[in-house]
Amino acid sequence: MFTEFDRLAMTQALALAERGLETTHPNPRVGCVIAQGDRIIGEGFHERAGEPHAEVMALRSAKEPVAGATAYVTLEPCSHHGRTPPCVNALIEARIARVVFAVQDPNPRVSGQGADALLRAGMTVEAGLMENEATELNIGFMKRMKDGLPWVRVKLAMSLDGRTALANGASQWITGEAARADVQRWRARCSAIMTGVGTVLADDPQLNVRAAGFKGRQPLRVVLDARLRSPVGAKVFGGGVGAGGGAGVGGGAGVGGAAGVGGAAGVGGAAAAGVDGGAGRGADPGAGPVVVFAAASAEPPDQNSVSGVAPSADDATWAGAALSGAIPVDRRPSAQASTVESTAAKSDSPADFRVPRAALSGKGVRIEEVPSDDGYLDLPAVLKKLGEMEVNEVLVEAGPTLAGQLLTTFLVDELLLYVAPKLLGPQGRPLVNLPELQSLQDAWGFSLFDAKRFGDDLRLRLRPK
Ligand SMILES: NC(=O)c1ccc[n+]([C@@H]2O[C@H](COP(=O)([O-])OP(=O)(O)OC[C@H]3O[C@@H](n4cnc5c(N)ncnc54)[C@H](OP(=O)(O)O)[C@@H]3O)[C@@H](O)[C@H]2O)c1
Repeated sequence: MFTEFDRLAMTQALALAERGLETTHPNPRVGCVIAQGDRIIGEGFHERAGEPHAEVMALRSAKEPVAGATAYVTLEPCSHHGRTPPCVNALIEARIARVVFAVQDPNPRVSGQGADALLRAGMTVEAGLMENEATELNIGFMKRMKDGLPWVRVKLAMSLDGRTALANGASQWITGEAARADVQRWRARCSAIMTGVGTVLADDPQLNVRAAGFKGRQPLRVVLDARLRSPVGAKVFGGGVGAGGGAGVGGGAGVGGAAGVGGAAGVGGAAAAGVDGGAGRGADPGAGPVVVFAAASAEPPDQNSVSGVAPSADDATWAGAALSGAIPVDRRPSAQASTVESTAAKSDSPADFRVPRAALSGKGVRIEEVPSDDGYLDLPAVLKKLGEMEVNEVLVEAGPTLAGQLLTTFLVDELLLYVAPKLLGPQGRPLVNLPELQSLQDAWGFSLFDAKRFGDDLRLRLRPK
């Protein structure tokens, strides 16, 4: 039975853990409070991979003896040697008498072992206090440890009538500044931002964090591009990223480099499991490394000739032309509805133009091949690969094609839906491309996790039922 003080202390430990929301990747966010009776005497949280864990920080911060005290930890203390020594050893050596933790470590290799080690040392161990809150804080880490897959959060912005862009493709901006600033915070906490080539062609996004005060590492940038249609000069590959891209404060330190923040194990870090330090590194220090998922054998048969034009692959002018519509669009019926009208209108090339992979590799872009079906990449294979790259939370910022495919393959964990009080009319682009339903009973159902107002816009967090 937990006391009111236990709850208060764990609430404080959770608040401390949250301070690592944007920095601990790929590690979990963990907070710890040390209390003698009803007095808090030490506090700490885990800030970055490779740096001390929350328990050690809290013990170090204690202003008086900790022997006989209670430690409140938001995650089961670790019992294994990782980048730092086991936290259970630190708690045992400090002669802590009681340990209360919120949630068991989900890692099957360590789960329960921390608690066992503490019990064997004669401590009182209690688990499960504010378990839901602690699980939410590390929802991606929990899922990756259990299933090897990241938590998939799909962000979409729409009008009151469920439209995401005008028929001509214009979509910037549907929502107001406050909502867009909120999106930046979701980018800041995720391990990777993923989009489809349709959005690269239409919007030329940078996919980096430009949030004020951001001190974390820039997330991995992921483009699904089965046939390598992305222009090599796209901003996501470093082309044309100017001051905006550089504004990712502190991002430079961690971008893909072994020496960077979290680099020892993070995405883009030196660890074998992460996006390897060199290959995925983006050209811009204010943006994360880039990985393009392509279909096996996506290399075009003729890389140098498109309708008599022989562009240099890394010619920014050509890339700009490609972005504005000179490259062919997706001709599958399912994709046509959402393809930029101006692009379709200008495309008269008989063959797909695809960027030679050497040009992308030359930009530091890592290309991962996965199986594909009719040009659609095998999404479970993509997510499995991201899990292997230690991606805990992936934020999908894509158009109706990829968002729809993720939904229909039951891979969406959460929708982050911004609703603007505007009407765009029925000619506008839909929110997601879904197969036609014959019965209302077959409608895709969601639970409302929370709703929050940002200026005049509303943010709904929804989870599939
Ligand atoms: N309102 C919003 O929140 C929001 C957010 C982002 C974008 N947008 C808008 O969305 C529009 C672009 O949407 P879009 O539907 O054309 O592009 P998209 O969903 O961003 O990308 C779709 C493309 O990704 C590639 N892809 C590879 N594997 C896939 C898979 N398994 N499933 C689905 N796609 C896969 C396909 O091209 P390949 O086969 O060639 O690889 C596909 O055509 C733009 O107008 C943009 O402004 C709106």
